Amino acid sequence: MKKVVLSALLFSATVSAQAQGLPVYLDESKPVEERINDALSRMTLDEKIAVIHAQSKFSSPGVKRLGFPDLWTDDGPHGVRPDVLWDEWQQAGQSNDSCVAFPALTCLAATWNTQLSRLYGESLGEEALYRKKSVILGPGVNIYRTPLGGRNFEYMGEDPFLASRMVVPYVQGLQSKGVAACVKHYALNNDEEYRHQVNVIVSDRALHEIYLPAFKAAVTEGKAWSIMGAYNLYKNQHNCQNAILLNKILKHDWGFDGVVISDWGGCHDTDEAVMNGLDLEFGTWTDGLTMGRTNAYDSYHLAVAYKEAIQAGKYTTKELDEKVRRVLRLFYRTTMQREKPYGFLCSESHYDAALKIAQEGIVLLKNDPVKKGQSPLLPLDLSKTKRILVVGENAIKMMTVGGGSSSLKAQKEILPIDGITSRLSSVAIDYARGYVGDTIRSFDGVTVGRNLYDTRSVAELTAEAVEKARQADVVIFFGGLNKSSYQDSEGHDRKDYGMPYGQNELVESLLAVNKNLVFVNISGNGVAMPWIQKVPAVVQGWFVGSEAGEAIASVLCGDVNPSGKLPFTWYASLGQCGAHALDTYPGTWRADHDIIDEEYKEGIYVGYRWTDKQKIRPLFAFGHGLSYTTFKMDKPVADKQQMTADEKITFTINVTNTGNRAGAETVQLYISDKKASVDRPVKELKAFKKVFLQPGESQQVSLTVGCDALSFYDESKSQWTAEPGQFEALIGTASDRITGKCTFEFK
Ligand code: BGC
Repeated sequence: MKKVVLSALLFSATVSAQAQGLPVYLDESKPVEERINDALSRMTLDEKIAVIHAQSKFSSPGVKRLGFPDLWTDDGPHGVRPDVLWDEWQQAGQSNDSCVAFPALTCLAATWNTQLSRLYGESLGEEALYRKKSVILGPGVNIYRTPLGGRNFEYMGEDPFLASRMVVPYVQGLQSKGVAACVKHYALNNDEEYRHQVNVIVSDRALHEIYLPAFKAAVTEGKAWSIMGAYNLYKNQHNCQNAILLNKILKHDWGFDGVVISDWGGCHDTDEAVMNGLDLEFGTWTDGLTMGRTNAYDSYHLAVAYKEAIQAGKYTTKELDEKVRRVLRLFYRTTMQREKPYGFLCSESHYDAALKIAQEGIVLLKNDPVKKGQSPLLPLDLSKTKRILVVGENAIKMMTVGGGSSSLKAQKEILPIDGITSRLSSVAIDYARGYVGDTIRSFDGVTVGRNLYDTRSVAELTAEAVEKARQADVVIFFGGLNKSSYQDSEGHDRKDYGMPYGQNELVESLLAVNKNLVFVNISGNGVAMPWIQKVPAVVQGWFVGSEAGEAIASVLCGDVNPSGKLPFTWYASLGQCGAHALDTYPGTWRADHDIIDEEYKEGIYVGYRWTDKQKIRPLFAFGHGLSYTTFKMDKPVADKQQMTADEKITFTINVTNTGNRAGAETVQLYISDKKASVDRPVKELKAFKKVFLQPGESQQVSLTVGCDALSFYDESKSQWTAEPGQFEALIGTASDRITGKCTFEFK
């Protein structure tokens, strides 16, 4: 015993002696802010300038002399991007940078399951750690404003509340591994076309009620360590150097203490970058136009130009020190954090997470019987199904390659055709291509597994598919979009809302010979479905990554009971969307053709807020998603009839699984302000909960809201306000399926 005490004493004496010898910035017993100040005081001007801009496509330097390692960032939201060459987008050709491709964020949002969001962040964080990346360039939470948006698939849908609830656990999960989230693209980056030139004109109310909440939640609740400025402009200033968005709202109002990173090439001006809140510059196109120039990092706006301006007395080091302080804070949170767990790449647990998220995010949009009196077409009745025809390019096309910066080098991607073939070994599976869409074989040097080159004519492709469909019991069509340019991909929006490559005509031709048609739509956006009345079953299959084929097959066969709910309104036509109805997209070019002004004339009326107001019936409503079982929702009960600003109100509802399969239902609570001094949406999502129920099982679901759920952004006071009066809580299982109401008064 004596011996133990003695050695403990000796140990602590040695540790404190060592600590005494350590400079403060390395002394882990000291508060981080003290360590930051100490490090800052030791840094030279050159070292300070070096840490605030890139040194390669994805890295920025640490401070070698003081022992701070370089900082490595990497895309993206859905998996860790393969390493690229030092100065080029082309992949470096490493053999250890394959990854698990997680479902794209629209699919994650469609799970309405915050625990899965946490799991997503944690799993991605472990992959990033293994790959020695300290900042993951994601998640993206730009609002789905128009279904043409090329990057909607990377985001979390149209509703600020849903996106907020889903982004927070993602950020927390990722950062629990010592890897920083870089929430993007802040803000108002809602379309891709002309993304560097769009000047968004939006009301303060829409900015605060629709476009900012998910960023705010990521920062104030998720405590995101970094955020990425967007390419576009707001109030005539690029968002990576935007005084209002960065200095005022993000840093002052929300108290953000992390690093503002420019989107790659989003910084355009030294003065604005210095003064308006940018901290770390990446990807600047050094000829000022569109081309990079090898090793041109000294020409960055926050490099030599900034240093020389300081030396010339144009700026003091006040702004510089503030930027460096933030970067050092990021170092302490990531590269300098010694408590980090180990990373894992392509582990079984990551594949399990990807599969689970995919299975819970897939949405059963429609499921009718083919003939009256029969069961719905899905799940497939394997006792009667002997021959299945799989049609469509999306059954054989890898979707993890392409789409822009979120493109991955997945260690494995189970294609739909393979998922179905391996799940249905007792069924004869035939395949017909049906149409040819995208035959590009690689993206940034990552090659897709299969050569999709096909020279057959439309007539030949159709004839083959129709002939085979005639012989089949069931036809499963995998179509939709495909992440090629203009089809759900960065850099451009879609040109129109229709299904590309003659898929509609093909659907009609197939229906003429076989009515047992399941359409599995692969996309991150809604698409027009002119044949919807005739196709009995439609499944939204998203871009679900490594486990795509397995996840989709498990839903089609009923191994998994679908429970995904749409995170956006699925319009029947483009005209049903406010932005298009008011002809606001893509905006109006100024005379010099340099800037395009896009006025968000629909204001807060985005998605279901617009369709509710205009009494439009979309193809599928926000929050819609079917199940193979049925649920009974009892009358909701409120715990009070009146509430004050300091109180909360709870609504309880009994939900019962009345079918004969286990399943999950998402109870959604929308608030409606009955009378207000300003125009308010018919209803707004303010709480939700997903419950898993065995057949016959019931559960009480309680949803609580506070006064913030009753508030609107009052432009005259620049603050959130809840006005006294009558409110209604509308509770249901979709925005167009409200099953119960409670009225209450706010005093
Ligand atoms: C994209 C970002 C991405 C960055 C780095 C940009 O073009 O907008 O989302 O993180 O490139 O790849």
